[in-house]
Amino acid sequence: MAHTLTWLGHASLGLETSGYRLLVDPYFTQNPAATVNADTVDADYILVTHGHGDHIGDTIKIATRTGATVIANAEICSWLRKKDIPVHAQHIGGGYTHPFGHLKLTLALHGSAFPDGSCGGNPAGFLLTTNDGEKLYLAGDTGLFGDMQLIGEEGLTLAVIPIGDNYTMGPSDGLRAVRMLSPDHVIPIHYNTFDLISQDAGAWADTVQRETDSEVHLLKPGESFVYP
Ligand code: NI
Ligand code: MN
Repeated sequence: MAHTLTWLGHASLGLETSGYRLLVDPYFTQNPAATVNADTVDADYILVTHGHGDHIGDTIKIATRTGATVIANAEICSWLRKKDIPVHAQHIGGGYTHPFGHLKLTLALHGSAFPDGSCGGNPAGFLLTTNDGEKLYLAGDTGLFGDMQLIGEEGLTLAVIPIGDNYTMGPSDGLRAVRMLSPDHVIPIHYNTFDLISQDAGAWADTVQRETDSEVHLLKPGESFVYP
């Protein structure tokens, strides 16, 4: 069964798997790289890695309009529940089998305050095992950490990692992350949205291709990677 992952700009992703439409970190309003509109995009589930404005983004607006269930850590879910958003709370290390696949929350080294300053708990990444057994690791915003080795031991089809630097891993730590994760495919995100995180992704891709066995897919915002 084919899966389609679309980079919607910055750290926003669309994923179609088993007939379900997932949005990850849907930040479209005020996102200069956004390729879809919060007033029209469709979703069955919304996955949120952490509370920062460029990740929680348009979650409330989209979930209210579509009725999509938001999956995030317990703190983010209790904040959303007060706004009458349907949620499924999980937490780091915990997995659950949803209709679209098995989703586990993973460690991320970052912050998670909401735009209003309240506490969004600890930031997370996602490890999704699709219903036909493909493993996707969505790192979220994070610095490099050695336990990426453990995530790599899962046997990853695809890893989506930040390389923008300043707020997250930059290109050199991104390369070290790929070595630990050893995914079949890797897609870099969270770069070039703003000057502060501008990177030469082509040069990074060349280095990763040369120094690892992983295949890099450089998407432009709006472009999709279809696999396997
Ligand atoms: Ni962040
Ligand atoms: Mn971010």
